Amino acid sequence: MTWAAEEPERQVCKSYDDFSRSEFGGRGVLMVINLVFVDASGERREVSSVEGRSLMEAASLSGIPGIDADCGGACACATCQVYVDADWLSRLPPIGESESNMLEFAANRHESSRLACQIKLTPELDGLTVTTPEFQF
Ligand code: FES
Repeated sequence: MTWAAEEPERQVCKSYDDFSRSEFGGRGVLMVINLVFVDASGERREVSSVEGRSLMEAASLSGIPGIDADCGGACACATCQVYVDADWLSRLPPIGESESNMLEFAANRHESSRLACQIKLTPELDGLTVTTPEFQF
């Protein structure tokens, strides 16, 4: 991975073969998205990913505990449930019907519950903070 300073105010990733560059506004670069995962004991883990990945993928690739993602992101297991920090909840796209239906089967669903596999990382989500539920450990 190569880092470039083409946009000095933001750190950008210059090459990442898993994604179609046309999907990202023709910029030809992917933005780095910084994320914070807090576990039930309060331990914070700060990781970086890139736009276009799901929050679940970012967690799994970084070894974040408590995100099992048994269905691999198919919105069919709810083992990627996270509680979104109150400051961030309104900045996420609205919850979809299938995501909401799946969360009905999740233990300890809260108002801030979302499925990490259904949250696509965008530059607007840089700094997103979520908590992983205690029962998922
Ligand atoms: S990974 Fe299965 S619902 Fe998210």
